Amino acid sequence: MPGTRPGGQPEAHRKMTEHHRPVRSFVRRAGRLTRAQERALAELLPRWGIEPPPPDERLDLAAVFGRSAPRVLEIGFGDGASLAQTAAANPGNDYLGIEVHEPGVGHLLLEIERLDLANVRVVVHDAVEVLNGWIEPASIDRLQLFFPDPWPKKRHHKRRIVQPGFLGTLARVLKPGGVLHMATDWEPYALHMRETAGASPFFDEPTGGPETGGRPPERPETKFERRGLRLGHRVADLLYLRNDEPVSSATPP
Ligand SMILES: C[S@@+](CC[C@H](N)C(=O)[O-])C[C@H]1O[C@@H](n2cnc3c(N)ncnc32)[C@H](O)[C@@H]1O
Repeated sequence: MPGTRPGGQPEAHRKMTEHHRPVRSFVRRAGRLTRAQERALAELLPRWGIEPPPPDERLDLAAVFGRSAPRVLEIGFGDGASLAQTAAANPGNDYLGIEVHEPGVGHLLLEIERLDLANVRVVVHDAVEVLNGWIEPASIDRLQLFFPDPWPKKRHHKRRIVQPGFLGTLARVLKPGGVLHMATDWEPYALHMRETAGASPFFDEPTGGPETGGRPPERPETKFERRGLRLGHRVADLLYLRNDEPVSSATPP
């Protein structure tokens, strides 16, 4: 039938839904899993992984962690080594890591097992959807976004996770006074982060402005950062404080 694809979906409808599909900040890479990572995904993910909440409900993070402690949420933890190291050094905090790359998830699960960590939980899902749909407003003390994909080509800039609407998404889940810590080794992305956060009504620079004078001691070096440093890139750490400005429910995601 003209205008209909083999799957039966009318062409006009396909075009419309394609047009409205949100741009994702990642492409799924079919990375090879080691046998240890395969075992971790099969045996450890059911224990440390978080399933989506029922429709129209949010995660009960106090129930998830079995306590109410300061909560740190990390977006795109990569291989999770720096997240695991931070969690091991801060047993009084709870850590929620979000990542879509399965070998990285497997690697973090193995670290959780090796270091016997009880304060880390893992979500394998698009962080933008998790932040918008799963997390209670003002429930997170600290957000970590370390070395997000820089998408250096101009035509790919729309894939960068840091956008004005995304800062609204982050502002909704952060407690007033909570910290947004971003790091990048890609100078044009650092500039974009500074401009976007600087224009956001929800974030203030800590006294003295964003930190660019080297890695703060609380952040271990990450795998992606090591790669950037080998290439001679300069690393910028940018820290912002969530102010009291309310996020209206009309703020676009
Ligand atoms: C460049 S890597 C950096 C990884 C790690 N933070 C590091 O510094 O080594 C960016 C990571 O973010 C993940 N990522 C990108 N967009 C994401 C999203 N929307 N939800 C979850 N993970 C995402 C990617 O899968 C990738 O592993």
